[in-house]
Amino acid sequence: MRKKTIRDLDPAGKCVFVRVDFNVPLREGSVADDRRVRAALPTLNHLLAAGARLVCASHLGRPGGQPVPELTLRPVADRLSRCLDRPVSFATRSVGPEARRAVGGLSPGDVLLLENVRFEKGEKSNDVQLALEFASLADAYVNDAFGAAHRAHASTEALARQLRPAVAGLLMEKEVVSLSRLLDTPRRPYVAVLGGAKIAGKIDLIENLLGRVDSLVVGGAMAHTFLHARGVEVGQSRVDEERLDLARRLLRTAEERGVNLTLPVDHVTARSLDATDTEITDGVAIPADRLGGDIGPRTVERFIEVVSGAGTVLWNGPLGAFEHEPFARGTRELAGAIRASSAYTVVGGGDSAAALHQFDLEDGFDHISTGGGACLQFLSGRPLPGLDALDNAEA
Ligand code: 3PG
Repeated sequence: MRKKTIRDLDPAGKCVFVRVDFNVPLREGSVADDRRVRAALPTLNHLLAAGARLVCASHLGRPGGQPVPELTLRPVADRLSRCLDRPVSFATRSVGPEARRAVGGLSPGDVLLLENVRFEKGEKSNDVQLALEFASLADAYVNDAFGAAHRAHASTEALARQLRPAVAGLLMEKEVVSLSRLLDTPRRPYVAVLGGAKIAGKIDLIENLLGRVDSLVVGGAMAHTFLHARGVEVGQSRVDEERLDLARRLLRTAEERGVNLTLPVDHVTARSLDATDTEITDGVAIPADRLGGDIGPRTVERFIEVVSGAGTVLWNGPLGAFEHEPFARGTRELAGAIRASSAYTVVGGGDSAAALHQFDLEDGFDHISTGGGACLQFLSGRPLPGLDALDNAEA
């Protein structure tokens, strides 16, 4: 870790602005999954034990620079209070007189959560004025939001340049240290298993990953784009039409670099994801009126064969619509095989973590990252602006 951390900070009596990633799923107005909240506790408890006053800030969803009532962080303040076992106050704006008043009322050991920083226009544009407003609230900056470190936003990047000291939290440190093993000296063969419905962003990082891994296994919706780029009929499955040329280029690059790229050879299909009329295809093509909801049994076997011989496995993104039981098998079996392998195993992305939770398979992996896009960006060797902006550790 080449950055300063909270261990280099003397927080006693200071007001510390802690950027956390509390971008958590909400259901009926309360937190449906609090793993990201719990992941921040070591940092928050460390600072509180040292006598700091805490101003926590996060984004939630993508409200587009204006208040969206459904994306308020208020329910997260309640959950944080329960997790910390102390009161957490809430400011209904992250800047302005109300935020200043709330910060002014804090005593050592108190915790305040600010409203969603993405309700402010300047957050996503990395606006320096907004960062200066955040900076005026505190004496020191801690970034523990690994999941948002790939975003150069006002509360992740600009603020670290305006409020010093600017140091990493313990979650940020743990993520960087655990993931660096895959960057520096991965045990070979190094296998990346990619899936998930969110193709944009991820597929762009495959190019960088191809220079690092020995095998790439692709399932989920991303596989349909690759198969379609190869001229395979994928029926009603979701395909990223804009990235077909990129997929073709990646298929060529994988071949040139000698990377073993494994795609599905059969699928579990249905007329829609809610339908139960599932059928398994004979071959790789999906009938015109059906969609691929999961990888088929022969594909599961092939994928398991690749991961069981691995020295390192990175898994990012489910291999099917695992939330629906008829399409859960591929993800469940692969997760089990990765967990059982003797490889160094890293899981990234909220959906993969949710799948592990659903299958009760969370124990037994070397590292489950709280980041999705951030994890892949880091592992593809690209800089993380929110990390880079922090103070360098002394050499
Ligand atoms: C995530 O959920 O991956 C992070 O919180 C980042 O969210 P974003 O993709 O909306 O920037």
